[in-house]
Amino acid sequence: MNKYLNKKKIILIIGGGISAYKTLDLIRLLKKQNCQIKVVLTKAGKNFVTPLSIASLSKSKVYEDIFDSNNESEIDHISLSRWCDIILFAPITANSISKIASGKAEDLASTLILASNKQIILAPAMNVRMWLHKSTQNNINKLLDYGYLSIGPATGEMACGEYGEGKMSSPEEIYKFVLNYFSDRNIVKNKKLKALVTAGPTKEYIDPVRFITNNSSGKQGYEIAKSLAKFGVKTTLISGPSKLKKPEGVDFIKVETADEMFYQTKKILPVDIAVCAAAVTDFKPKKFESKKIKTNNLSLDFIRNIDILEFLSKNNLQRPRLVVGFAAETNNLIKFAKDKKNKKYCDWIVANNISDPEIGFDSDYNEVSIISENKIEKIEKNLKSFIANKIAKKIISNFIQ
Ligand SMILES: Cc1cc2nc3c(=O)[nH]c(=O)nc-3n(C[C@H](O)[C@H](O)[C@H](O)COP(=O)(O)O)c2cc1C
Repeated sequence: MNKYLNKKKIILIIGGGISAYKTLDLIRLLKKQNCQIKVVLTKAGKNFVTPLSIASLSKSKVYEDIFDSNNESEIDHISLSRWCDIILFAPITANSISKIASGKAEDLASTLILASNKQIILAPAMNVRMWLHKSTQNNINKLLDYGYLSIGPATGEMACGEYGEGKMSSPEEIYKFVLNYFSDRNIVKNKKLKALVTAGPTKEYIDPVRFITNNSSGKQGYEIAKSLAKFGVKTTLISGPSKLKKPEGVDFIKVETADEMFYQTKKILPVDIAVCAAAVTDFKPKKFESKKIKTNNLSLDFIRNIDILEFLSKNNLQRPRLVVGFAAETNNLIKFAKDKKNKKYCDWIVANNISDPEIGFDSDYNEVSIISENKIEKIEKNLKSFIANKIAKKIISNFIQ
């Protein structure tokens, strides 16, 4: 019996796709590890697998209709979503992806998902054209942005005879994904990891009304803090001025200047992980004028701000076990990022090209390369939340090997 899966409560929603029959095998694999499974079958799903086969394998009643509760004191979509540890939707069709992405609650499956605060894992399956359609891609990206996880789809020959991306991942792959989900969280929880993430710009005041800053929105750092917290890491986000809301599940400290960010950083040490995603203004006026400067005096002297990334990396007493820096460059991306990594002594540098207006500073999208000791790993253009999840996953796997 696998200790991570033993007694885990899983809601499995089976949608109306050809691959629905494969989930019978998935139920068998999960039951073998003593998972408790309750199955919701969509109306279309019922055309592909029978409630009788599902009930026999899952040893539980099959839920089909939102208005079909046997117990008047309980409402199925609410009680089911509170009962489970995760909701697994396999196969999820293009139709259900669209329904959920638009917040619909028109059958038991979609209502249950809307009412849930548990991790939702999707295993999409459909024809390659349906999968690659802009509408499906927009919908699935929206769900990933909400923090849903997704496995597959795989590439191969489809039931319709066409070839391409769209096959549901195999029951074994989905089983492994679920197992990793529970084991990763368990290990992270037991290790009681602590992380610090800095994000946003800083504001360096010249006089009471004027300041120097930059265009950083803070989005990428906020998303990384959110992802780390979701993995069970105790995360503190120190943010410069940003319009973004405090992410859920994260300790939050708002600052304005580089000096304040540095002070708060020192205060929360020691941590296991430091992710320096803030675009700290490199310099500040040598002297803050307490009265508004008159326009006939146009000369300013600057001094360098403290380098928080370098401070953390070279901190012999309280160095985080993993220090991750960011390099926003307009040219020679990898070379400049590598130089920065060597100069600052951090462990990894996440490099992105800010000369592309479609990614970087204020965009919801990014494309990055993670440069570690002897490896460069590129994450192709995607939502910042998706990229954050990848970075957080890589950080976590560094601690649970
Ligand atoms: C034979 C057949 C196979 C189908 N296979 C799929 C599929 O693999 N993926 C998909 O997205 N839709 C598929 N569909 C279409 C869905 O069944 C249809 O969109 C349905 O409304 C989905 O409902 P649900 O999302 O509530 O399960 C198939 C339809 C038929 C008739």
